[in-house]
Amino acid sequence: MLDAMLPVILLLILLYVGYTLVYKTDEPKKERKIHEDTQEVKEKHVEKPKKHVAKRKNPVETTAPKKQIQAEHPLLVHVLKGHTSAITACAFSPNGRFIATASTDRTVRLTLRESLKSKNPTFKTINLPYDYATACSFSSDGKTLGVVTADGCKVSLYSKFKTKPECITTFPVEHNVLSLLLNDIGEEWMTTLTIGKDDNTEIKCWNTSGHLLQTVNVNQIQNYHGVQSLDNRFIAVAAYTPEVKIFEIQRAKDGSFSKLNKAMGLQGHTSGVTDIAFDGSDFKPVNHIVTSSKDGSIRVWDINVRYKLQEDPKCIKQFQAPSGYYSTVDITPDGKWIAMTQGSALYFLKVATMQICCEIQNAQDDDITRIQFDATGIEIFVQGTTSRIIKVYHLPIE
Ligand SMILES: *[C@@H]1O[C@H](CO)[C@@H](O)[C@H](O)[C@H]1NC(C)=O
Repeated sequence: MLDAMLPVILLLILLYVGYTLVYKTDEPKKERKIHEDTQEVKEKHVEKPKKHVAKRKNPVETTAPKKQIQAEHPLLVHVLKGHTSAITACAFSPNGRFIATASTDRTVRLTLRESLKSKNPTFKTINLPYDYATACSFSSDGKTLGVVTADGCKVSLYSKFKTKPECITTFPVEHNVLSLLLNDIGEEWMTTLTIGKDDNTEIKCWNTSGHLLQTVNVNQIQNYHGVQSLDNRFIAVAAYTPEVKIFEIQRAKDGSFSKLNKAMGLQGHTSGVTDIAFDGSDFKPVNHIVTSSKDGSIRVWDINVRYKLQEDPKCIKQFQAPSGYYSTVDITPDGKWIAMTQGSALYFLKVATMQICCEIQNAQDDDITRIQFDATGIEIFVQGTTSRIIKVYHLPIE
């Protein structure tokens, strides 16, 4: 029986082995095929983005030189680099020696302007541990730098820039400060004015010991910028409401601060005033004020009026923005040129004709928050919102 069954059993075993061999070799083949298919699909997917990247690369390559061209605008004379985070404030010293920059990197830099052409400009650093400066301003002689710190609402005055900047005094100012002004004539005395930010619309006057001399409330909902004429006579505040209030510093016989008095009002804008500037300098008398407003206009005002007899300055020239409005404005000390900005664009307006003579698109990395001509009116700095650099442009030469 077994002898008869054996070939059948062997045949069955052979059939089973054969079946399993065929089955087991077939399965991986199918799997491999599927795997190869998916790989092909994957490769195709990979290839497609590669093509996209390649396509995208070209526009990037073509925009890069454009940016370089923009950075090398013929009027760009200096780029101040070195801060490791956003610049919050900038100021030219009236004597032309320094440019001060404050940053959220907790430093203030005093850069020697004559060294700006070299690869490694000379600068002095003021460190503000645990805090940073939100506003800065020089005294008339350029020997003192005032700084306002963010957290502490404190004013600090520094001097001795030639060796190592030294803090000569620090005092609390009891409000959040938008603008800081150092008002001084000669070396005898100095008054520090702090102009409140946000819903605080006060102007506070302090002596250098931190003693509050006077508080004036501008009462214009929100202050945008507080400025001072270079002859230390007038203070003006651009604010949310259309009227501009101009204050005069009244002095005692020895020249020391006696009182801040409202002297004039500028009436005519139909919307808030974003920025304001005086012409004049230590050598040139103050004759004009320029204002930019949310009503889209840039106005030039003659302030040679008998304000003690309640006469108000008159608008003598006007320029209307083709669209929108200008957020910052400044005027050269000789009153011949106005610079203004909209977004990241800088414009130079010739006062004689009230026509834009030069336009620099992307004059900064982002929206421009402050511009200022130096005391000669030849150069202007441009500060952005979050930019770590300051760009300095030259006045367009005719
Ligand atoms: C500031 O004013 C106070 C109070 O009048 C006075 O004691 C102090 O000497 C003044 N400081 C300066 C530097 O004038």
